[in-house]
Amino acid sequence: MADQILSLAINGRERQMLTKLIAFQTPGRSAGQGNGHGDRSMLSSVAIVGLGYVGLPTALAMNGSCERIIGIDISDRRLAEIAALEPDLAEPDQLRLKEALAEGTLELTADPSAAAMADAVIICVPTPVDEQQRPDLTALRSACASVVRCARPGQVIILTSTTYIGTTSELLTGPLAERGLEAGSDVHVAFSPERIDPGNPDHQQRETPRVVGGATQACTIAAAEVIGRLTDLVYLVSSPDVAEATKLYENIFRAVSLALANEFADACGALQLDPIEVTLAAGTKPYGFLGVFPGPGVGGHCIPCDPHYLLWQLSRSGRTSPLIEQAMRSISLRPDRVVQRAAEVLLADGLALDASRVIVVGASYKAGVRDLRESPALAIISRLAEVGADVAYYDPLIPALRLPDGRIMKNVAAPQGRDWDLAIVHTHHPGADYSWVGDCPRVLDATYQFDAVPHRALV
Ligand SMILES: NC(=O)c1ccc[n+]([C@@H]2O[C@H](COP(=O)([O-])OP(=O)(O)OC[C@H]3O[C@@H](n4cnc5c(N)ncnc54)[C@H](O)[C@@H]3O)[C@@H](O)[C@H]2O)c1
Repeated sequence: MADQILSLAINGRERQMLTKLIAFQTPGRSAGQGNGHGDRSMLSSVAIVGLGYVGLPTALAMNGSCERIIGIDISDRRLAEIAALEPDLAEPDQLRLKEALAEGTLELTADPSAAAMADAVIICVPTPVDEQQRPDLTALRSACASVVRCARPGQVIILTSTTYIGTTSELLTGPLAERGLEAGSDVHVAFSPERIDPGNPDHQQRETPRVVGGATQACTIAAAEVIGRLTDLVYLVSSPDVAEATKLYENIFRAVSLALANEFADACGALQLDPIEVTLAAGTKPYGFLGVFPGPGVGGHCIPCDPHYLLWQLSRSGRTSPLIEQAMRSISLRPDRVVQRAAEVLLADGLALDASRVIVVGASYKAGVRDLRESPALAIISRLAEVGADVAYYDPLIPALRLPDGRIMKNVAAPQGRDWDLAIVHTHHPGADYSWVGDCPRVLDATYQFDAVPHRALV
């Protein structure tokens, strides 16, 4: 380990951050060349609790720097999917999974007590919100309780699920102390937010710095040593609370930016300007501007949920955060705006939405993934059906979906453009066939980036 200087541009100012960054090299990668920052031995065993979109790639990224990886998931269905090499993974991770299962370095189990066998435990279970947008910690409480129950002296326990500030202390450090395991001496406890971007090959885990905040300094160092096997750069902060707040700030920043991008796109539309052309032009400014593209709404397990963790936490002490609240309201209303535009586009040709055939192109919340969680497509399809449109969807990655009212809808496997009055482009997956969309008489491009069709309208 060595002190490092990290240069960051914040608000146009170059800031030099000293001593808080550890650069690691994993065994095997250094191949004897070293970069002066660490010659590290193999970790003997790590348990990953929760093998979802985040946990499974994390487990796979440990392969090569850890002798034994114990993958724990309470869902037998999920474990069977992984064992059958069928999970929704990027191509390189598919290969890693095949390798890890063939070599026997990744063991799969539904038994939570298997965590007792590991030197390090990484928890990455889901942290959704309930119908009132309050944190739903059911999975996290249960996962932490079982990790605490079978914790043993010497273990490093790292929480990575996004959550409100104070969770690590509340669900791990405190309960461990009640069991007689003091953080910093008997065990090491830390929070390190996940930064995986499923389906995006441009951001590899290894090149994405990770933040680590331990319950004590010794905990921070021990956790950084484990997280340093996933990434080349670990940035240390003073506590789990700071690390938890860091993740919320990152995703709140994104939520507010997306809400602004959508609103600005609407303003451009009203002024007959192309919002993408304006965004790309603004993006040429080398400081002080971060370009974000507008879209049909915001989906996935993070942006629509995480800001509510902070809003809920503030509300408990009677505080508010009006800008974040407004951004989240605006995000939740975006699918309505898409439906409103669909009605306008049809009406311009004398067609009523309630007498039209509409196909939604792409149902998952983003390109290249099968994840439907919080996908705006679900709200768009539901609303179109509610107002009486004859609605269907096309998504080669999603054979069937369940609408909020419980209805199951099946993918139209081979649509013909002329069968529809309107196509609403919601997501386009790399490699899928969208040649038929050009034959639709009307195309509403809610992605703003489907420029293969000359007669498209924008939201
Ligand atoms: N998906 C993302 O893009 C992303 C990115 C960064 C951070 N995160 C955060 O990472 C965390 C995990 O998200 P995800 O998308 O991987 O969730 P996920 O739903 O894809 O996977 C979670 C897995 O945990 C399992 N699980 C639930 N309770 C469990 C328990 N008690 N013990 C063991 N396994 C259990 C589930 O069966 C599931 O397979 C969340 O806090 C999320 O906010 C997600």
